[in-house]
Amino acid sequence: MSKLIAANWKQNGSSLEVDNLTREIIKGAKKLKNLNNLILIPPSVYLERVSKLIKKSSVSKRISLGVQNISPYKNGAYTGEISADMCKDFDCKYFIVGHSERRETFNEDSVMISKKVLSVLNTSQKIILCIGETLNQREKKQARKVIANQIKSGLSLLTPKMRRTASKIIIAYEPVWAIGTGKTPSLQDIFLMHKHIIEISAKIFITNRSIPKILYGGSVNSENSNEILSIQGVDGALVGGASLNAKKFIDICRSI
Ligand code: 13P
Repeated sequence: MSKLIAANWKQNGSSLEVDNLTREIIKGAKKLKNLNNLILIPPSVYLERVSKLIKKSSVSKRISLGVQNISPYKNGAYTGEISADMCKDFDCKYFIVGHSERRETFNEDSVMISKKVLSVLNTSQKIILCIGETLNQREKKQARKVIANQIKSGLSLLTPKMRRTASKIIIAYEPVWAIGTGKTPSLQDIFLMHKHIIEISAKIFITNRSIPKILYGGSVNSENSNEILSIQGVDGALVGGASLNAKKFIDICRSI
């Protein structure tokens, strides 16, 4: 199975920087023949320009576009929000939902997150549902329970039909304490948490024994990506800081 590498650029860059970064990544991707599943997730104001650069490149089939946040509503009087349908105009296929930065800084609770999940799944697009425990929760040995609750509540509004297949759902395990800190869990801890996520998901997608792809995120860099991406149950990586440097990011992609 080909691994998926996603670049979450968060609130970084200018149009010039985003253009350069996209061009450099496209250049690097051309040399990596086994890289079939790369997702670039720029700030939303730059979606159109990144979309154009991808489309006119020779690797447009191997690079997709994602969005960092999404409205829980289809359309209407919701100032500041954008919908999954609007993003279709730029061929956006993936939407991050439940990132810890949105849970913590923007107070998104599990009800809001489950509505956002549903709003994407009502379209033809896919979600990247982020989950992860804080350091405090980990130290209190609550990590497994927190993760189970975040998956169950995030997917709580799925219709019976949506529960038949997990093909539109990607889960990103991002321990909050590992994001942007240079710290990562041990390889064994990542393996065990991904196994736990597989077990919980298997109870949700009962019919076809379909399991979401599961990414690891949190301080992935070109030095640790090889080891992390070889862990059984890790289907790819969601990369923040290191994805803002084309060379470092392509080095990560090289490890799949
Ligand atoms: P870092 O790779 O900078 O730790 O960020 C991870 C992340 O939050 C990706 O969504």
